[in-house]
Formats: sequence, C-alpha cells, structure tokens
Amino acid sequence: MTTEHRNTLCGELNLAAADQEVRLCGWVQRRRDHGGVIFIDLRDRSGLVQVVFDPDRADQFARAEAVRSEYVLQVTGRVRARPEGTRNKDLPTGEIEVLGLELVILNPSEPLPFQIDDSDTSEAIRLRYRYLDLRSERMQRNLRLRHQFIRALRRYLDERDFVEMETPVLTRSTPEGARDYLVPSRVHPGQFFALPQSPQLFKQLLMISGFERYYQIARCFRDEDLRADRQPEFTQLDIEMSFIDENEIIEMMEQMMRTVFTEVLSIDLPHPFPRLTYAEAMRRFGTDRPDLRIPLELVDVADLMRDVEFKVFSAPATTSGSRVAVLRVPGGGALSRQQIDGYTDLVKQFGAGGLAYIKVNQIDKGPDGLQSPILKFMPEAVVQELLSRCGAADGDILFFGADRARVVNDALSALRIRLGHDLGLVEGGWQPLWVIEFPLLEEDPDAGRWVSLHHPFTAPHPDDLGAMDTDRGAVRSRAYDMVLNGTEIGGGSIRIHQSEVQQQVFSALGFDEQEAKARFGFLLDALRFGAPPHGGIAFGIDRIVSMAAGEESIRDVIAFPKTQKASCLMTEAPGDVDLEQLRELSLRINRAHDSGNPKSG
Ligand code: AMO
Ligand code: AMP
Repeated sequence: MTTEHRNTLCGELNLAAADQEVRLCGWVQRRRDHGGVIFIDLRDRSGLVQVVFDPDRADQFARAEAVRSEYVLQVTGRVRARPEGTRNKDLPTGEIEVLGLELVILNPSEPLPFQIDDSDTSEAIRLRYRYLDLRSERMQRNLRLRHQFIRALRRYLDERDFVEMETPVLTRSTPEGARDYLVPSRVHPGQFFALPQSPQLFKQLLMISGFERYYQIARCFRDEDLRADRQPEFTQLDIEMSFIDENEIIEMMEQMMRTVFTEVLSIDLPHPFPRLTYAEAMRRFGTDRPDLRIPLELVDVADLMRDVEFKVFSAPATTSGSRVAVLRVPGGGALSRQQIDGYTDLVKQFGAGGLAYIKVNQIDKGPDGLQSPILKFMPEAVVQELLSRCGAADGDILFFGADRARVVNDALSALRIRLGHDLGLVEGGWQPLWVIEFPLLEEDPDAGRWVSLHHPFTAPHPDDLGAMDTDRGAVRSRAYDMVLNGTEIGGGSIRIHQSEVQQQVFSALGFDEQEAKARFGFLLDALRFGAPPHGGIAFGIDRIVSMAAGEESIRDVIAFPKTQKASCLMTEAPGDVDLEQLRELSLRINRAHDSGNPKSG
C-alpha cells in the first residue's frame, strides 16, 4: 500500500474498478445506520461514493459510528458491485460501493449551522458561512463554470495575439458614472487614491504604447446602488485594440461569444447577432437592452391622439419629448380587473399616471366588441386606426403609456417584461444582440447638465461632429453594447484619439480647460504623442456566468460576494479601524454624521 493520502477520486469509481483496493479522501456527505451496517456517502471534488462499514471489523466499525456530517476522512476499502436492487441510477458511482477496511478521521467537524445543499437556507446564513456554502453542489458547479468561461475567453484571445496585462488598482478616479471607492494615502496626508471603476484609461494608454491588442480579467469597483446584477466589486473581461473600427470589433467579439458558448455550454448562438440602433430599440422596446425572447413590441400612436378629448393622451401627443405608445398583448384580454390593477401599480413605480387599456373581445363588432374605460373619449375612427396599426386581434389587450418619453419607456418596457413572464410568452433559448449608435450625451435632468451615455472617451460619430454645439442631444457616438436575454453583458466604443476632439467633448460635459487638465492631463498629453485610432469593449463576466448557470443573482457565481448593502457577512467588512491607523492617515471620523444627527456627539 502506498503512503499517499489517496490514490483515486470518489466520483471516478465504477464497475471497472471492482475488486480493487482504493484509498479515498473526502467529506462525509451523509452517514446512515442501517441495522448494523453503516453507510457513508463520501464526497470529494469529483463527486460522491458510498462506503459501507460492517461490524466484522469491530474497531473500524466503532470509528465509523462516531463519524458525523462533514467530518474529513481517509478511507481504504475494496470496490464491489452493489447487490442487485440497490443500484442507484441517479448517481454516477451508483453501480458500486466501497467496502470500508480502514478508516482514519483526518478532522472532525462541529455540527454545521445549516445543511449544505438545502435550498431553503437564507442567503444571509449562506454568506456568513460562505466557505461551507461553497461546498454545495450548486456553488461548486457555478464556480467551475466560471473558471471554464474565463479559460475559454483567455484561450480565444491568446490565440489572436492579445497580451494580458495588469493595470493599477490604486489610481485616480476613472469616470464610468458611479461613485468612487477611495483609499486614503498615508504618505500624502489628506490625499486619496480611487479604486478603478474600470481600467478604461490605462488600456487606452497601452494602445498609445503600441501593444495593439490588450486584455485583462479586471476587477472593477463602483460604489453604486446594488441590484441582483450589480456588485460593488465585479469582474470585467476588458479588451482594447488599435487600428480597428466598430465593425471589426463587433465581429471579433461576437465570434468570441459564439466560440465560448459552444465550447463551454454546447450552445450555438446566432450568426450574426442582430444589430439594433439605440433609436430603434427605444422605439420598439422602450429600452436599450431589450429581451428579444419576448415577442411584444411598443407601437407609437401620438399622431392619432392629438385631438382626442382625453387630455392624458392629447397633452403628451402634442408635447416634444413626450410619447404615447401602445403595448399589444395577445391573450391579455383574459386579465382580470385585479391583475390590471397590479400592472397599474407596476407602471406607477416608474412615474406613470395610470395604465389605460382596451380589451379586444370581438373586433368585428366595432365599439361593442371592445371594453375600456377610455373609449368614450375617442372618436370611433381613431379607435379603428389604432386597432389596425397595432394589428389587434380578438383576445388582445392594448395597454397605453402617455407621458414624458422616459416615463413611458421605463413603464412599458418593465410592463413588457413582466407580462412576458406572467403570461408565459418568453421563448426559450439565447437571444443576443448589439445595440449601436447610442447618443453621445444625454441631459441629466437633476444636475441640469450634459453627461456621457457611456464615458467621456467615446468617439462621436464623425457625421454628427458639426452638431456638437447646435443639437447636442442628436450627436451619435461610436459605442456598442452587447445584450443577452435582456441583460447588458458588455459595452464599448471606438475612442477619441485626437486631443482636440477629447477637449471638445470635455467642454461639452462642462469641464473647462483647467479642470480637464487637472483630471485628465496625462490622457490629453498622451493623445498628442502619436495615439493610434483604437477602440475596445468590456464584458461583465459575473453577468454572463450567472446567466449561463441559470442563476438570478451574480452573487451566486462570485466566491465571496458582498450583500445588497455592500458588506461582507463573513469577514464583516467594512469594519472599524484603530484610532492609531486613522491618525497615521490623518483622518478623523465624524460620528455625528454617521447617526444622521449633526448635534449629537
Ligand atoms: P461598462 O460600464 O458598460 O463599460 O461596463 C462593462 C460591463 O460590465 C458589467 N458591469 C457590472 N457587472 C456587475 N456589477 C456592476 N456593478 C457592473 N457594472 C458594469 C456590465 C457592463 O456591460 N470601460 C468601459 C468599457 C469600454 O468602453 O471598453 C466600461 O466599463 O455587463
Ligand atoms: P382617469 O380618467 O384618470 O380615471 O384615467 C382613465 C384611464 O387612463 C385609467 O385607466 C388610468 O389608469 C389611465 N391613465 C391615466 N394616466 C395615464 C397615463 N399617463 N398613461 C396611460 N394611462 C393613463
């Protein structure tokens, strides 16, 4: 017998190993006492195998009796076919079992705070004992899938001459639209590093340095409101290339996705991915990340509503920046009053004033075949035109949105998704697409100034450059997003590579020359020393893997994620620090600010 810890893996045993003596190591998944025989399901990274101890070997048997869940064991035993009738088809090793000859308890375990693999365990408990949760089959599967994705992505890029490079984590603010995480400098009292929201500027500088093709599996940090698909630190596949245009990038990147999905999941994504302009996506779906698996679309009807009596419709129909649109839902005629009230509450969350509707019971009966609280406000001819424009048919419901365009888009796009799921209209499969021709800038109504839709380094569309001062909102950018089943999984752009254009965009964003120089002087300088035309993209690895794993939340594909409140329940980070540490950093905590009461303390 060898002295090595083990000579085979639990999950790899089968009938071919019958009569062999094996040595295994692993955790006790389960121990059962069956009338004088003890069964232990032993688990290692490869899977499970059943080990049997019988009372013939009294000392080993006594030890097996003492074993509990999650003890760590070394078992020496003989593989044998399970008796007929006791075979387990659901288990890859279900044809055999191991007769235990020698048992060593490598380490006992206290009773666990929860049962691994119990789907009812609260996420708070799972995150507090994450190292135990990660033992579950689900989490093992998810994190291995993540590894396979990253490996396949690396392979694709390595084969195409990309260089993997690291960029600093202690840096200056990189504007991607979120708040920065700051790190105080001890050496420079009162000054701060910012953790990167993305490696954006560094990868552009690497293009200026002549690397031409760069990638990085990069950790990004954003202090923003968290959701199921947002974490304060998350991982991007970050890519940048020189001497390339948007079509080449789009083609190479969708080929990468096709290759990796086939390799890792045996899923064939479409070839090519459809492309929608931002304007078309907003018009048809009310969002720039449409879920194309849901066959419902918005239809504009403002032109029909200009003169109707119903002010709720006629006012937005005659106001610029507003929208009147219909969402036709086949089969929605069967929705109850109560269900419609539920959907009305949903759209109100997005600022909608209500949710007018028309039920189409029997279209050939004219007005008598319709049911709606708003029919009385509309001439019959308008209703007829409306029905034919929407392609209405018996059994439909038509929902209306009438308000500022943003409200209508937010409300009806959310309604579209909700109805798609509630009515079972979501088609199976994978529906990727590109959204292109985004606006370069949008007006931030709260701040009353222009902000970048992507980031300030995105190149304007050359045809629209002239409109920068005259019709700013109409300037398109050279940005593109990849969307998969309604989730934005990646975004990028061709960059500005001329200092003057960069300066022009900074000034449109409200940075005067001095401010631009103070924040981005190094970039403006670098652009003057022979910057090549370049562009790139970044993909949200966590999002892609969570979708591939069929998980709702990206937390389930991150080994040690943060909660929705941006804390780690296991390490209890963020936490207090010593006064001495604060002193070294020239910092003082204002506790009064914490408690929200400036007078106390
Ligand atoms: P962007 O900000 O669009 O682009 O980010 C790229 C992708 O990263 C994912 N993502 C996130 N995933 C989890 N948690 C978050 N908080 C989070 N924020 C973003 C999304 C998104 O599509 N520098 C540019 C890329 C470029 O222009 O090359 C950038 O960061 O899937
Ligand atoms: P009211 O006359 O206010 O009772 O509204 C008549 C119908 O129009 C109701 O079904 C409301 O839910 C709906 N409604 C009100 N405001 C809007 C709006 N901005 N967009 C769509 N429907 C609306």
